[in-house]
Amino acid sequence: MGTGANDDRSSAPAVHVRAPGKINVFMKVGALQDDGYHDLATAYQAISLYEDVYARPADDFSVRFTGPIDSSALAVDGSNLAIRAARLLARAADYRGGVSLEIEKHVPIAGGMGGGSADAAATLVACDHLWGTGLSRDELHELAAQLGADVPFALMGGTAVGTGRGDRLSPALAQGTFHWVLALADGGLSTPEVYAELDRHRERHVRDIAPAAEQPMVDIEVLQALRAGDPHQLAEVLHNDLQAPALHLAPELAKTLETGEVQGALAGIVSGSGPTVAFLAANQDAALELQVALSASRLTVLRATGPVHGARVVAG
Ligand code: C5P
Repeated sequence: MGTGANDDRSSAPAVHVRAPGKINVFMKVGALQDDGYHDLATAYQAISLYEDVYARPADDFSVRFTGPIDSSALAVDGSNLAIRAARLLARAADYRGGVSLEIEKHVPIAGGMGGGSADAAATLVACDHLWGTGLSRDELHELAAQLGADVPFALMGGTAVGTGRGDRLSPALAQGTFHWVLALADGGLSTPEVYAELDRHRERHVRDIAPAAEQPMVDIEVLQALRAGDPHQLAEVLHNDLQAPALHLAPELAKTLETGEVQGALAGIVSGSGPTVAFLAANQDAALELQVALSASRLTVLRATGPVHGARVVAG
C-alpha cells in the first residue's frame, strides 16, 4: 500500500480561492475594552495584493506556504490561522474530514496589511466549496469574526467601514481606482504590541491629549473622498491612530514616510498596525514614478490598486 488513496487525493484538482490584503485609510481607536480589544472605527480598502489558497481533500489538516515572501518563520501547526479557520468550519458544518492547504503568499507577514486574515478568509471559502458545506455569507462572516478582527473584511473586500473590533462591516460607496505604493519594512510589528503602546502613550500623556473617543466614527470627509474617487481629497484625510505607536516602536518609519512625500506621494500612512507604509499616488503614472524613485532610495516597494473584490473562488 502506501502510494494508494492518499496520493490520488493529493493530486486531486484543488479549489483555488484568492483573498486580498487591505489598507486602513482611516483608523480611529477608542478605549480598551474588558475583552482586551479596542473599540474602533476604520475605513478599509481591499487592494490588489492577494493570497492564493489551494485546498485539496485530505484526512487531516495541514498547511504549507509558497510564493515570493519568506514564510519560513510561520507556524504550520494547529496554531496557524488558516488551519484554525478550516477546523472551525469543519466543526460548524459537522464535517469529519480534513484539508491540505497550500498558500501562495504575496501580502507581507506581520506588515499591517491583513495577510494572515486573508489566508483565514480564503480558507473558509475554499473549504466551504471543497466540502460542499454550503454556508451562507452571514454564517461565514460569523466564523470569520471568531478568527480575527480583520477576517470578515477579507471575505467582503471592496471598501467598507468597520466598527466594533473592526468586524462589524458596512459597505462604503467608492468610485474609481486608487493607486498605492507600499514600502515594506525588514521586520514585522506585533499588532497587540502596537495597541499596547497606544495605551501606554495615552496614559503617559493623559493631561495633554484628548481621551480616547467613547464611540469612534469615521470622518465624513473620508467617506466623501472615497465616494468621489478623488485621491487628492483622500490624501488630505488619511488618518491612523496606530501610526504614532508604530513609529515609537519602529522609529525608522518616520524616514520612510518623509522619503515618500518628498518623492511625490500625495500622502503616506502606516498601514494598520504597521510597519508597511502605504503611499497614495495621484494616478497610475505617478505611482510608477514613485515606485522607481523609492526603489532608488533603497526601499522595498510594491504597487497595488484598490478597491478589489473579497475572497472568492477562482477555480475548482
Ligand atoms: O483580532 P486579531 O487577532 O487581529 O487581533 C490581534 C490583537 O490586536 C488583539 O489580541 C488585540 O490585542 C489587538 N486588537 C485590539 N483592538 C481591535 C483589534 C485588535 O486591541 N479592535
